[in-house]
Amino acid sequence: MKKWIVILFAMLPSLAMAAGAKVPLDKANNDLTDQASLQNGAKLFMNYCFACHSAQYQRYERVGRDIGIPTDLLKENLIFDPEAKVGDLMENAMSEDSAAKWFGAPPPDLTLVARVRGTDWLYTYLRSFYADPSRPFGVNNIVFPSVGMPHVLEELQGIPSPVYETHIVDGQEVTKVVGVESTGTGELNREEYDNAVRDLVNFLEYSGDPVKLERHALGWWAMAFLVIFTIVVVLLKKEYWRDVH
Ligand code: HEC
Repeated sequence: MKKWIVILFAMLPSLAMAAGAKVPLDKANNDLTDQASLQNGAKLFMNYCFACHSAQYQRYERVGRDIGIPTDLLKENLIFDPEAKVGDLMENAMSEDSAAKWFGAPPPDLTLVARVRGTDWLYTYLRSFYADPSRPFGVNNIVFPSVGMPHVLEELQGIPSPVYETHIVDGQEVTKVVGVESTGTGELNREEYDNAVRDLVNFLEYSGDPVKLERHALGWWAMAFLVIFTIVVVLLKKEYWRDVH
């Protein structure tokens, strides 16, 4: 019995490798306490993603409150649907059926995507589109091969070109795309684009767990309380023991 458990644990890493992509992921290094980054992320999300993806477990109002965007600015700059009210859920008008017809797969809701995929995956994904004329939208993606989504951030990044590597497998040459190289033809240079994607991923991480912001802030208060409480207890102990000695 024990032996089987040992073997199973020994196999776990290779099983995980088999299930996941072999592409190494870049670190997102996003910072949930950076409000300017969250606001920029929200702006990018509403401008570049919301046409296809909803964030239907979030309300505009709550997002504005959490990341410090006043209601009037929220209405003016982030809510594009004239019918939508600030108290509404962040749903978009695209029907799943027509989306599936256009793209082959419906664009999933993104509220929780950072929890499902992880921030590093998202950060890498949005920087891994590359030109591939054989695909319907002319692009492919390294971490999501044959993806049904166009490179929607093309105007910011340009379309990177693929980097190939050739291996000999069973005596035959096999060429694989192993990376992308930015062409620098977009509005942003490489560093600016990475930062923009980091902000977007930051916003998506916040979206997946809005309470995290509060929890982190509360955490500091709890730590401060513990430190002060410890000092009080030490002083108190000294006071009590003075008479005993
Ligand atoms: C033109 C429509 C469109 C826009 C705009 C768009 N997407 Fe997508 N997206 C899709 C489609 C379609 C899929 C499903 C792809 C598939 O399954 O092959 C998808 C899939 C994804 C996925 C993978 C989800 C998963 O776990 O399978 C992520 C992440 C994603 N999109 C993020 C974004 C972000 C971030 C933006 C904004 C920068 C964005 N998308 C803008 C159409 C779009």
